Order: sequence, then structure tokens, then C-alpha cells
Amino acid sequence: MSVKEIPTKPFDGQKPGTSGLRKRVKVFQQEHYTENFVQSIFDAIPLSGSTLVVGGDGRYYSPEAVQIILRIASANGVSKLLIGKDGILSTPAVSNIIRKYKANGGILLTASHNPGGPNADFGIKYNVENGGPAPENITEKIFARTKTISSYKVLEAPAVDISKLGDTTYGPLKVTIIDSVKDYLELLHTIFDFKLIKSFLESHKTSFKVLFDGLHGVTGPYAKAIILETLGLPASSVQNCEPSPDFGGGHPDPNLTYAHSLVDAVEKGRINFGAASDGDGDRNMIYGAGAFVTPSDSVAIIADWAEVIPYFNKKGGVKGLARSMPTSAAIDLVAKAKGLEYFEVPTGWKFFGNLMDAGRLSICGEESFGTGSDHIREKDGLWAVVAWLNIIAAANEQDKSGKLWGIREILNKHYAKYGRSFFSRYDYEEVPSEGAQKLVDHVNGLIKSSSFSGKSYESSATGISFTVAKAYNFDYTDPIDKSVSKNQGQVVTFSDGSRVVWRLSGTGSQGATVRMYVERYVSADAGERELSRDTGEGLQALIDVALDISNLKQFLGREQPTVIT
Ligand code: G6P
Ligand code: ZN
Repeated sequence: MSVKEIPTKPFDGQKPGTSGLRKRVKVFQQEHYTENFVQSIFDAIPLSGSTLVVGGDGRYYSPEAVQIILRIASANGVSKLLIGKDGILSTPAVSNIIRKYKANGGILLTASHNPGGPNADFGIKYNVENGGPAPENITEKIFARTKTISSYKVLEAPAVDISKLGDTTYGPLKVTIIDSVKDYLELLHTIFDFKLIKSFLESHKTSFKVLFDGLHGVTGPYAKAIILETLGLPASSVQNCEPSPDFGGGHPDPNLTYAHSLVDAVEKGRINFGAASDGDGDRNMIYGAGAFVTPSDSVAIIADWAEVIPYFNKKGGVKGLARSMPTSAAIDLVAKAKGLEYFEVPTGWKFFGNLMDAGRLSICGEESFGTGSDHIREKDGLWAVVAWLNIIAAANEQDKSGKLWGIREILNKHYAKYGRSFFSRYDYEEVPSEGAQKLVDHVNGLIKSSSFSGKSYESSATGISFTVAKAYNFDYTDPIDKSVSKNQGQVVTFSDGSRVVWRLSGTGSQGATVRMYVERYVSADAGERELSRDTGEGLQALIDVALDISNLKQFLGREQPTVIT
């Protein structure tokens, strides 16, 4: 076996975004493309002698990528790779394994919720030793290296069989093929009250139905281990739980548009508790018959009920709470009520990591269907699902009247206590970059203009008007390492406390994706009728005004958003 140095030339655009490098599979398949990026990781970060975890959501091109990593890692002096069986490891599972086995980092093969298959997306992401996504100073170093790379090193050896558990070697490199599910399942057992959940489900076999949809992503085997084996529910409680390289031709994103397989089944079967997770298992959606939980409400509710989850008791309570900037302020209200510290960070889970490492953050979430805690350094789809089951089981145990507590009852109780933040996001996917830039420039113009604040805008359809209070670009200084992230979204607030945010997606693989987030708060004393209104209805006037202010339809050439969540 010999190490060979292969000459190469830089490729343009190998810039890892919020969540790694994401491109079409065809792009990764170009000669030297994947190798260049992987070698750039090893050039940018000193990893000789290190232990790394490798795995992903099993999407198309993953097996090839694992072998490329094996060849390059070995030639670059890595000492050990822990690889998920068949290359399968969910993103939360990788985060846990890095932490549990004190690895130096991990390479995740996923494009998260983006579709997979020969004509869809692939991705490579690097996580650091705390188990979280690499911070910007590291991804910048990797990117810088991709621009100057002139060769990469490979060990020439036959491929490793990654379908067999156990130890092997690849030249000087030690390789262990690990069970994809075991460590993660053990972790969840240290967090939740599975006994309570199981006993609630057993005693409500006919009145409380559960359905988890894996959307053909990586969570299938994990969900089966938790929902079927641990909680003892029937096989009909999971669907689409066989991971497939192209996610069954679907779009593995748990939201109301793409997770229609779940939505349909929940409505048809009047399922009390439905949930789905994305391609790599870090996102989640909670959806029961007639009751959709926005991710912003979900994290607020989990925080509010945290004491029923043993992990947060054992560790001496919840330290702090946090959300990404575009996420609704529902969790802020919980933090205030509980006297907890809370943070507003830019979009991207990596921003929570420093706060967690510093012991100041326990529970956090993002509007982009991400919810999690400091048990790992990634958001965690199944963690959120089990958290909800734990809360529902506890609510039923607490109420001795025999009333059945489900998603709707928990939501109503929350709104009655804290009020409700109506929240919605409009996505305009793969629009021309020039149009998106024009929109950004236009809103920046408004932000700079002295006559913008105080100006009123009326929604012609509803006759309701909104007066601009403040407008700014969101900048963030990390309270721990003082690093500064500028221009993380354009925010306009109104005199009634409503808010609109525009932001360019950092995760698209083609063109630009513009996101518009709208939020309107209704206080608890508005009464049940106001609080239980349909989201679209509650927000219509604000959406009209937001479209008007930003001139969005004209700049993007789109009448309708691609997705509304
Ligand atoms: C990934 C990250 C999330 C982030 C999201 C933003 O899923 O893990 O933390 O919220 O991307 O995506 P966007 O497309 O809005 O940049
Ligand atoms: Zn994901």
C-alpha cells in the first residue's frame, strides 16, 4: 500500500455555508472535486494523529464519499476513523459519538433536508470536538485552502467493507465500523422518562395514536428502536422508516408542505400525535390531528415544561434559553417568567454551541424546525419528538380528572398563560441572485432612510395598518468569544410589537433563496377566540404590508412563495 500525491487544481465556490458544502451530486462527482474539499479539511485543521467520526444520512453518493475520506484520511496521518455501519449516522448521533468517544471531530455526509439522488444534492460538513458544526474561522480556513490547493494525498488500497461491524485497518489507519443507533439510544435513555411515556401510551392504547414519519431519511432505524422497541408501540406507528438514497424521490423536510405524507396520514387517521424528521435527523415537526406546533412554540413549550424531563432536573435545572433571531419571541416570555437568562443568536445552530459550552444555555430552537438542548451540539429531531411525548405523558399524569391531554390542550394552555406569537415564514426558493440582491439593497435603503420609522403602511385587503417602529440589520457579538457576525437579517419592527425579517438562505445549492419571516404577538387577555385563530388569517395584514414594504414580488418575479411554513 502506498501513498500517492495527485495533482489537482482549485474549484470555484467550495465555500462551506451555514451547514457545510452543499452542491448537486453531479458537482461532487467531477474528478478531484470531493477529494479537493476533503484534502482542504485536512490541510486547514491539524488532524494528524486524530480520531474522527464519519457518517451521514445515506444519501446518493455517500458510499463513494466514505471511501474517498478513508483514502485521504489515511494518507494524511489520521489515526482512527469511527464510521457508521453502511455510512449511516444521523447528525445528532455523530454529535453524540464525537463527544462520547472524545473524538477530535467528524465529517458528516449530508445535505440535510435537501432532496437526494443523482440529480439532487450532496453535502460534506465538518464538526469540531465539542460535537458541533465548525465555527466560521474554521470553515473560512477550509475555504481559503480550496482556493490554493494543488494536490491531494491518497492511500492506494482496496475499499473497506462498511457493512460489517467491527475493527479493521486501512494502511496505518485504524477503522471501526460502529452500530448506527446504539450510542444514541443510550443517550436518550439518560435524558427522558421512558417509563412514564410507556405507561401513558400503554394505558391509552386506543385513545392516543402516534405516528412518526422518517420521510425515508436517516431516522428510520432510530425511530424504530425508540418508538417500536423501547416504547412498545405497534409497527403502524412509524412510516417511511427505510432510509433510501433518494428519500423515496421526496423532499425530506419536515414542514407542512414537504411532509405531506405525515400530514395526510395524521388527518386521515385522526392521529393524536404525529411527528417527522428530516433527511439527517436534526429537524423535527410536531403535528397532531388539527394541531400544528410551530417550531417557535415547540421550543417555548419544551422550555416551559422542562422540569418533567429528568435530564433537566438531574443537572440542577435549566441554565438559559435561546433562539435564532428570526424565531418568534415565545421562548423569551418563558425565560422571563422563569427568571432565566436568554439569548437571540443569528440563524445557524453553531451559534448556540459556545453558550452551551460555557454552561449558560440548556434549551434552544430555531424557526427552521430545529429544537434541541445541551445534551449534544446539534439540533435533534427525535429528541424533540420524545420531549413532546414526555411532556404529554406528564401532563396526563398531573391531571387527575381523566381529561386527555394532547398537543392541542398543551398549546391552548400555553397561549392562555403566555399569549401567542403568530408566526409564519414565506420562502422564495431558487430565485435569480440579482433579484434577491435588489431586494436586500432596497430594504437597506429603507433602513438607512430617516423617514422610514414612523411611516404607516396599510394592507388594502384588510384595511389594517402598521406603523414602522425600528429597522436594522441584525449584528451579533458572541458573548463568550466576542466574535462578531454582521448582516444576519434585515428586521423591521412595528409599533404594535409585530415584526418582519428578510434573510437570504445560507443553505441553498443553486440561485438564491429569500426568506421572509412575520410575527405578530397577541397577549393572553385577548381571549380564546383571538388566540386560537388560524395562523394565515391572524397574519394576513402583516404579510401584505411586508410584501409591500420590500417590493418583493417585483424584485423576485414571484407572485407566490415556494413554501409557507
Ligand atoms: C441549517 C442549520 C440551521 C439553520 C438552517 C438555516 O438547517 O443547521 O441551524 O437554521 O440551516 O437555513 P437557511 O436556509 O435559512 O440558511
Ligand atoms: Zn437536517
